[in-house]
Amino acid sequence: MDFENRLIVISTGNKKYLSVVTQGQNFITNEGKIEFDQIKSIPSRIESSTGVIFSIYAPSYKEFILLMKRGPQIIYPKDVGSIIVSANINSKSKVLEIGTGSGALTLFLSSILGHDAKFYSLDVNKKNQYRAKKTISRYLSNYSTDFIKDINFINQDLSGFQIDTIPINFDSIITDVPEPWLFFDSNQINNDLHWVSYLPSISQVSRITDTLEENQFQDIEIKEVIEREWTVRGKISRPKHSMVGHTGFIVSARNIL
Ligand SMILES: C[S@@+](CC[C@H](N)C(=O)[O-])C[C@H]1O[C@@H](n2cnc3c(N)ncnc32)[C@H](O)[C@@H]1O
Repeated sequence: MDFENRLIVISTGNKKYLSVVTQGQNFITNEGKIEFDQIKSIPSRIESSTGVIFSIYAPSYKEFILLMKRGPQIIYPKDVGSIIVSANINSKSKVLEIGTGSGALTLFLSSILGHDAKFYSLDVNKKNQYRAKKTISRYLSNYSTDFIKDINFINQDLSGFQIDTIPINFDSIITDVPEPWLFFDSNQINNDLHWVSYLPSISQVSRITDTLEENQFQDIEIKEVIEREWTVRGKISRPKHSMVGHTGFIVSARNIL
């Protein structure tokens, strides 16, 4: 079987690495090396040059996002789930994302939006969008699933962006930019719409909340997702010693005419 160019996780038991199968080359770790030509199936187990067993398999979304090279700070996977529910996304949703960044949320959205959905992603930074596009196609090329075909990337500053230049009544707008309130300088929402903003600091939360209220949004919710992993092994049963602390606040609201 030919696995050339396939995206894989190489797990040594102690550490996970993201890599791409490249014929004739080696992958070297502190726990020994393997040759990519040793891979006869995915998933599989391969013995390294020092006798350590490595697991080789396709990365999950979470592994890919956390292990990939990235530019701007990503939305952490624990927050993605909550954002998707708060934005009321389904396979047919019409979604505008503001702040493509490294494409972590863009990738997850593109994996759940179907062919009847509409998806636009705006960012002022061309380089970030270019890198995000490459990240997304790199991940999706590993899977032959029915993901949305077209993501419409808009390279523009939110300040001055006019939503009515897009002939779509969006169901959801999700922002991950420092100043999401700029949207309302040049736009008004007149349809049923779910708004979600991801923001690291409480002063930003305060400003967007005021702006949403001024724009007659309802059901405003402000939350933070705190995920605490546990170790449960034999007689040990306790929370892990370390955890990811603060990532971002999630502000959600709905415009119900
Ligand atoms: C934190 S990153 C978004 C990360 C992304 N959600 C992810 O999970 O990978 C913020 C992005 O917003 C963009 N941005 C900041 N201010 C903007 C503005 N006024 N208009 C458009 N994009 C902006 C930046 O260029 C950057 O790429």
